[in-house]
Amino acid sequence: MNLLILGSGGREHALAWKLSGSRKVSRVFIAPGNAGTAECGTNLDISPDNFAGVRQAVIENGIGMVVVGPEAPLVSGIHDFFLEDDILRTVPVIGPVKKAAMLEGSKDFAKAFLTRHNIPTSRYQSFGKSSEKEAISFLGTMDPPYVIKADGLAAGKGVLIIDDIAEAENEIRAILGGKFGNAGNRIVIEQFLRGTELSVFIATDGRSYKILPEAKDYKRIGEGDKGLNTGGMGAVSPVPFAGKVFMEKVRTRIIDPTVNGLIEEGIEYKGFIFFGLINVDGDPYVIEYNARLGDPESEAVIPRIRSDLFELMEGIAQGNLGEREFLTDERFAATVMLVSGGYPGSFGKGYKIEGLDRTSGCVIFHAGTKNEEDKIITSGGRVLSVSAWGNSMGEALDLCYRNAALISFTGKYCRNDIGFDLNNNAE
Ligand code: GLY
Repeated sequence: MNLLILGSGGREHALAWKLSGSRKVSRVFIAPGNAGTAECGTNLDISPDNFAGVRQAVIENGIGMVVVGPEAPLVSGIHDFFLEDDILRTVPVIGPVKKAAMLEGSKDFAKAFLTRHNIPTSRYQSFGKSSEKEAISFLGTMDPPYVIKADGLAAGKGVLIIDDIAEAENEIRAILGGKFGNAGNRIVIEQFLRGTELSVFIATDGRSYKILPEAKDYKRIGEGDKGLNTGGMGAVSPVPFAGKVFMEKVRTRIIDPTVNGLIEEGIEYKGFIFFGLINVDGDPYVIEYNARLGDPESEAVIPRIRSDLFELMEGIAQGNLGEREFLTDERFAATVMLVSGGYPGSFGKGYKIEGLDRTSGCVIFHAGTKNEEDKIITSGGRVLSVSAWGNSMGEALDLCYRNAALISFTGKYCRNDIGFDLNNNAE
């Protein structure tokens, strides 16, 4: 079968890398992809948000399945677009329909869903544009730091954590006043939870599910988790504190009620669910849902999948996921992101990347790269990630860092402390 993967980051390169090794996959196409995905398939210069362009690519290339990487096309309804099209309706889309993607597309929907199904999450209320006064008054009943979320997708910038109440009040006014456009037509204010975050993923056909290896990502630009939020600077898997006892709580208190809740509400979910969790004194709480795999978590999680990932996708599409084998690699995997100097603020592009051919014992997943003549150059803030395996987290990270040191481009930056908080943190 020919596959089309939508997206252009490290997650999509990891998907293309893994799926191109399946004996059931003939050709992999990636839209739009990057210089790395071009090594395991054929890049198509089409945005995942251009549904008409995706339709044409599916028809022209005899695509039998579409795997959606990022959230935006899911929240805009690409799966529904396929179901409503006479030609595309038989082509399975791995990723939920619009209504199900609301788990990520609307923070208010997600919080209400969690509450309806008694799934542990923090206390909250949501407010619309005409309820600014009520929002500010509710804020006064919360303890700092104050968590304010724009309801809709806001390019990863819609979650604010603020210590000062006056500043928090100003942000409420700014968001409801249009700071994030329509994404801020509603806001969620919720109680801050103190603990250690982790990411848990399931693949589901809407009835049964498989739990993928869990991971922890590192979102801040600076070491010690300081500085601005980024799209992720590295990840490790497994997460030492997420042992059998903790993961059993995750399964019974969070995953089962989520999957059953979707069934009860008649929402058919086919794809991946990403549970953004926090461990508060040994108990898991949901911070957020995402309707996709995480990035950079995928660059550590996918290398730990031993089974044929296409089997999982086929199980999702055919509704028989429960019958599919799913094996994972017991070893640790880690990934370290190399970014452009200045990221997540402004940064230069077009710099030649050197040293990729000197790396060994690791996998390089590209994100912001492209081919230009006979060179690979930088084309984004998150340039590429170096992933490696090890018998311990330290061993995997050591291999990542040794290889990362061999790669060079102008302004290259990486965090040197990925996993720093997990060493003495086993269950
Ligand atoms: N690593 C967090 C995300 O993918 O949203």
